[in-house]
Amino acid sequence: CGIVAYVGPKDAAPILLEGLQRLEYRGYDSAGLAVLNKGIKTRKVKGRVADLASAVPARFKGGIGIGHTRWATHGVPSDVNAHPHLDSSERIAVVHNGIIENADELRAKLTADGAEFASETDTEVLAHLIARTVKDTDTLADAVRTALKSVVGTYGIAVLDAERPGEVVVARNGSPIVLGIGEKEMFAASDVAALVRYTRQVVHLEDGELAVLDSDGFHTFTMDARETAKEPLTVDWDAGHYDTGGYEHYLLKEISEQPETVARTLRGRLDDRFHIAHLGGLNLTPHETRAFRRVKIIGCGSAYYSGQIGAQLIEELARIPADAEPASEFRYRNPVVEHDTLYVAISQSGETYDTLAAVQELKRKGGRVLGIVNTVGSAIARECDGGVYLHAGPEVSVASTKAFTSTAVAFGLLALHFGRVHDLSPADGRRICEGLRRLPGQIAEILEKEQEIAELARKYAGHPSMMFVGRVRGYPVAREGAQKLKEISYVHAEAYPASELKHGPLALIGPDMPTVAIVPDDELLDKNLTTLGEIRARGGQVLMVGHRVAEPKLVDDCIVVPKNEVELDPILLTIPLQIFAYHAAVALGRDVDKPRNLAKSVTVE
Ligand code: G6P
Repeated sequence: CGIVAYVGPKDAAPILLEGLQRLEYRGYDSAGLAVLNKGIKTRKVKGRVADLASAVPARFKGGIGIGHTRWATHGVPSDVNAHPHLDSSERIAVVHNGIIENADELRAKLTADGAEFASETDTEVLAHLIARTVKDTDTLADAVRTALKSVVGTYGIAVLDAERPGEVVVARNGSPIVLGIGEKEMFAASDVAALVRYTRQVVHLEDGELAVLDSDGFHTFTMDARETAKEPLTVDWDAGHYDTGGYEHYLLKEISEQPETVARTLRGRLDDRFHIAHLGGLNLTPHETRAFRRVKIIGCGSAYYSGQIGAQLIEELARIPADAEPASEFRYRNPVVEHDTLYVAISQSGETYDTLAAVQELKRKGGRVLGIVNTVGSAIARECDGGVYLHAGPEVSVASTKAFTSTAVAFGLLALHFGRVHDLSPADGRRICEGLRRLPGQIAEILEKEQEIAELARKYAGHPSMMFVGRVRGYPVAREGAQKLKEISYVHAEAYPASELKHGPLALIGPDMPTVAIVPDDELLDKNLTTLGEIRARGGQVLMVGHRVAEPKLVDDCIVVPKNEVELDPILLTIPLQIFAYHAAVALGRDVDKPRNLAKSVTVE
């Protein structure tokens, strides 16, 4: 979900709507806003921010307000369940990201006490709670703090009080809140994306912090009312990053940006003299680096699949055992945390709750955690002991593309660095350095094949199901390819190790189930070609993605990509699958940037 708040001399409503539009990728099933002008005025709609904008009347004046775009957790998407939520006397309005775990219990108590609930949401509980408390406190901040003491769960909230028309109170516990500092005006949001049009000066709240905003500035406090000192950070992402830049969709823009974004991930980090990588943010001495016996990588969704590519790179180049696991699983299985394991958390947003919670659990148990993160200053970045920033620029489309690629490239750097501290020879170091440098140009070559790939996407998009297979280095590529396709085109796609096909899923293969096969020119080429023969023998169509055109008896179609070093090939093999998924989704008329049921940053459990 997304939150925006404004206090200042201008009319809040247009600023809130603009901010919500920037945040819409975080949730888009309903939206709403409230402004203060002789009482609280609200508008809420099921649907998109554009629907909200047409529902907000011109008479919605007032220089203070809060807004929200929702990804439903409690209660179906509807006008009533949309935020902001008000108490019965309409004194307090609240927008909220996160989940209040004891909402049912609090709701029962409040109802017994006379509160009347309008919605099914957990958030409305907060409005009633704060309204009850505010009568007995001197400030709105005191009321919010007191109310939050009885709340179990996660939240990022923004609160308005009709009787204190000069301020907004925001608070954070597990769900991000960023303040934006303007000239005689203040902003707050769940994401810097909503702020960059107005200011580059931001302050991130920590968990357990609360802030009071008025047009003169802000004050931050802990939950026991101690004032905290905050240093503003200057963000280097500007509003232009959040435009489609002439492309029809953010997704296509982000796919097309990859030669540049990969170059940015590499910039200044390769050393051609010693054939090593400089990663200044790791905070690891060579001695400490040598002491790790294992690397464990965690992340969610596409971040997890890029972690699988990363694990292979580390094993191959540094010969340190490495594996990747979904952060959402890791955190719940009481993992054994070892002192000689290095943990690596991956996140584009730096806010995914499951990943953040896994990092916090690791830290609690004394684990050493590096972050591979795109968003500078985000919660996961701040929680880690060190790490690598991707510098890929903001990613807006819900399906991850450029962050995925940059993460794999960052792992290339990390594996080179670890390898050169261990036993990777200078000659191999040089080979990898040169390979990494070739990537941006080779990605540009693949992008030139867009029309050819689009044709193939249109050819295959009509099938209800597709199989994606790859062996070893090709397997995470297959998984990410299937993920992209199902996320944005809603075509069922299943990824399997090519070697496992004959142990079960081959039963599914037939004319209705084409296979996308990842077939790099590596030591497993012959094995992969045999698999293609097995698929064709069962009447299955094959679209091969690899480094050469295979015999027509093995494949129906081929997408040929430039060859790099075998270890780095997975990065390039992923690009055509992104283009394929994009054009399949377009051909099927899908909402490419905002696929149904999903959100860009899942800041709830
Ligand atoms: C959501 C998005 C995915 C993304 C995942 C992890 O599920 O829909 O595209 O890969 O979160 O996000 P992160 O920001 O942690 O990389």
